[in-house]
Amino acid sequence: MGGAHAQLLLLVLFAWAWLFFAGALARGASGLHPVVLLPGFGCSQLDARLTDEFEPATAAPSCGGVPKGKKGWFRLWNNHTALQEDPTLVPCYAELLRLVYDPVAGDYRNVPGVETRVVAFGTTRGFGYGDPAMKNFCMEKLVRALEGVGYREGENLFGASYDFRYAAAAPGKESRVFSCFLSSLRVLVEQASERNGDAPVILVTHSFGGINANVFLRRSPLAWRRRYVKHFVMVSAGAGGGVSRLQFCGPSSSSPPTDPLSFADTGRSFAGVFSTLPSPKVFGDAPLVITRAKNYSAYDIPEYLKANGFSDGEVARYVTRVLPVTLDFSAPAVPMTCINGIGVPTAEKLVYWDGDFGAKPDEVLYGDGDGASNIASLLALDTLIGADPEQVYFRSVLIHNTSHGGAISDDFALDRLVNEVLEASRAILGQFVATAPRSIHGLKFTEQNKVV
Ligand SMILES: *[C@@H]1O[C@H](CO)[C@@H](O)[C@H](O)[C@H]1NC(C)=O
Ligand SMILES: *[C@@H]1O[C@H](CO)[C@@H](O)[C@H](O)[C@H]1NC(C)=O
Ligand SMILES: *[C@@H]1O[C@H](CO)[C@@H](O)[C@H](O)[C@H]1NC(C)=O
Repeated sequence: MGGAHAQLLLLVLFAWAWLFFAGALARGASGLHPVVLLPGFGCSQLDARLTDEFEPATAAPSCGGVPKGKKGWFRLWNNHTALQEDPTLVPCYAELLRLVYDPVAGDYRNVPGVETRVVAFGTTRGFGYGDPAMKNFCMEKLVRALEGVGYREGENLFGASYDFRYAAAAPGKESRVFSCFLSSLRVLVEQASERNGDAPVILVTHSFGGINANVFLRRSPLAWRRRYVKHFVMVSAGAGGGVSRLQFCGPSSSSPPTDPLSFADTGRSFAGVFSTLPSPKVFGDAPLVITRAKNYSAYDIPEYLKANGFSDGEVARYVTRVLPVTLDFSAPAVPMTCINGIGVPTAEKLVYWDGDFGAKPDEVLYGDGDGASNIASLLALDTLIGADPEQVYFRSVLIHNTSHGGAISDDFALDRLVNEVLEASRAILGQFVATAPRSIHGLKFTEQNKVV
C-alpha cells in the first residue's frame, strides 16, 4: 500500500518535472506564453466602405451626401476626432453602423451598400476608443503593462478585434460574421503558439470579449483547447449578465448625441443587444423590473422586451438565438481565472411604477457588483464554472472597490491581472492537472471568491 503510494508519487513528480522542462524549452528565451487579448464591447475599431448599392435615401437618410467622396475605406467606429469636429456626421455614422435582420438568410447584416471590416486583426492596434478618456477601458494600459514585463506586439502579444455589433447565435442558427470571427481567432491562436515554440496561449479578455471567448472555447474540440490554451483570464464578466442592461430607452445623456450607438435605431439593432441580459439561470424568479401592475423576472424578459417596443420578430430572436447561448454559459474546461470588481453600487431592480419604459426609471435599487454586473452574476461563476467537474483549475478573484472598467485600468487591479498572466505562464499545475486523467490525480484546484 505504502509502496504503491510512493511509486505513484514518484510518477507524478516525474511527469511534473518533465512537463516543466518541456514547457520551459518550448517557450524559448522569454519564458512567456503568448497572450491573445479580446477587448470589451465597442473597443474594436471598424472601417467601412460604401458600394454602388448604397442609397442614402433608404439606407441612411441622414447621410444626405455626407459620405460622398468616401470611396475607399474610412474609419466608421470610432472616429472620435471627426465626430467632434463635425457633429452633423453623428446621425449618419449611426445609420451606417445599424444592422438589419435578413429573414431569408436568417441572419443579421449591414444596411445595403455598407461593407465593414475590423481594423488590424491579430494585433492590439485595432483596439481603442478615439476618445482618450475611454482608451484604458479598451486595454491600452493593459497592453503597456504587459509590455513592461516583456511582452512584444506581434511576437508574443496579439489582439483579436471583433465586430461587437454581431454576436454568437444558438447552434443551428446562422451567424456568419461571428462564425468568421471564431475561425480567425482559431488561426490566430495556432499561429501565436507556433511562433512561440508551440507554447499554448493565454487568453485575456475584458467584459463582452470574455463572453465571446467562452463561446469560442466551448465550441472548440476539447483536444484543441488543451493543446492550444494554457489559461483563460476573464476580467469583468459574470456568468449571467446584469440588470442594468434592461434599460433600453434611457434618454441620451447628451443632446445632440455625440455617440452614434446612443441612437435607439442603432444600438437596438445589434445582434448583441440581448447577449448580456440577465440570465434566468442566475437571477431566477427575483423581480428585476417592478411596475404597479406587474413584476418582471429574468424569465419574463420576452414579455418585457415586447413592452419595450421590440417587435415579435426581435423577441423571437431573443428566445431562439440568444437565450440558448446565455443558458449554455458554462465551464470552458481550460485553466481559468476570473477577475472582477465588487463594492460598486450596481442596479439590481428598476422601478417603472407606471410601466413607462421609454422614460428614466422612477427608482433604481442598487446592490453589490462592479457597476455593470451584479454580485449574483459574479458569484454564479463559482457554481457554473468552478463546480463543474470538467473544470480542473478555477480561481475567482474579487477586487474591492473596483468598477467594471477599473478592473482593467486601476493600478492595483492591473498589477493583479499582470501577475495572474505571469503566474499562468509559470504554472505547471493547471497544465498538468488538465492533461492527466482525472482518476489518477484526484486533484482539483478551485479558489472561489478570493477577495483582495
Ligand atoms: C477620421 O476622420 C477624419 C475626417 O474624415 C479623417 O481625416 C481621419 O483619417 C479619420 N481617422 C481614422 C483613424 O481613420
Ligand atoms: C413586485 O415586487 C416587489 C418587490 O419585490 C413586491 O413588493 C411587490 O409585491 C411585487 N408586485 C407584484 C405586482 O407582484
Ligand atoms: C475606493 O476607490 C476610490 C477611487 O478609486 C477611492 O477614492 C476610495 O478611497 C476607495 N475607498 C475605499 C474604501 O477603499
